[in-house]
Amino acid sequence: MQILDGKIVSQAVKDAVKEKTSLLKAAGKKTPHLAAILVGSDGASETYVASKVKSCEEIGYTSTLIRLDPNIEEAVLIEAIEKLNADDDVDGILVQLPLPKQISEEKIINLIHPDKDVDGFHPMSVGKMVQGLPTFLPATPYGIIMMLEHYKVETKGKHAVVIGRSNIVGRPISILLNRNSYPGNCTVTVCHSHTPNLKEICLQADIIVAALGRPGFLTADMVKENAVVVDVGITRVADATKKSGFAIKGDVDYVNVAPKCSFITPVPGGVGLMTIAALMMNTYNACVAKNK
Ligand code: GUN
Repeated sequence: MQILDGKIVSQAVKDAVKEKTSLLKAAGKKTPHLAAILVGSDGASETYVASKVKSCEEIGYTSTLIRLDPNIEEAVLIEAIEKLNADDDVDGILVQLPLPKQISEEKIINLIHPDKDVDGFHPMSVGKMVQGLPTFLPATPYGIIMMLEHYKVETKGKHAVVIGRSNIVGRPISILLNRNSYPGNCTVTVCHSHTPNLKEICLQADIIVAALGRPGFLTADMVKENAVVVDVGITRVADATKKSGFAIKGDVDYVNVAPKCSFITPVPGGVGLMTIAALMMNTYNACVAKNK
């Protein structure tokens, strides 16, 4: 069993982007600038956004963090995005999800200029991804793809089972694994909360991507020998032994599933780190494309 180590791969990706960024700077070109908007103070969102801003600093990007009160009206967020859309110095815009109930995520995602859509959530980006055209890939699926590539995991002709059909992970990773490229060329089954025979389907999988957000959901009896397991779950579970009061749990019962796998991602230290590395890559590409 080989661990797909997010620490190693994300560091390699970030080091490469850092190197390319210093070359940009040395050539007198524009420094990439990521603007992040955080509405409210949800603990997990705070952590993710802080990691994204810290990665910008490590790589040498400019970053702007805009914090908005959880009770703001939608119009306030719209105005903030319109300002960032119009700001030539800003290359990438990220609005951390989820948003408070009074704000339409759909409206907000649609408003971000596609050239600055480093999360790859805009319908224009999604449409291009579906057609296999160059675009910003959503960060978590892109991170998974980079990880499979780094470890040269064979995907061609494999049966990939994706559990979860969210716009952020399940649906886009199903499309990327199915593309005519490497990693890709999988036969993909997308399972969800109404799939009746999930265990039987998972037992046929060469590759399983668990992205449903239920800690420990994928158990050893659902996984065939030598499967590749990618765990996208990052749920906070109360844990009195931790200083923070919680532990991060994946969707996979790691202890029992790992011995059966050819490759598996740990949680923490797996896909989560790759999401940030992918976002950094998208921000670099946004800057270069915009300032040709
Ligand atoms: N919430 C959970 N994952 C993501 C992500 O990749 N981007 C943003 N903006 N919000 C998220």
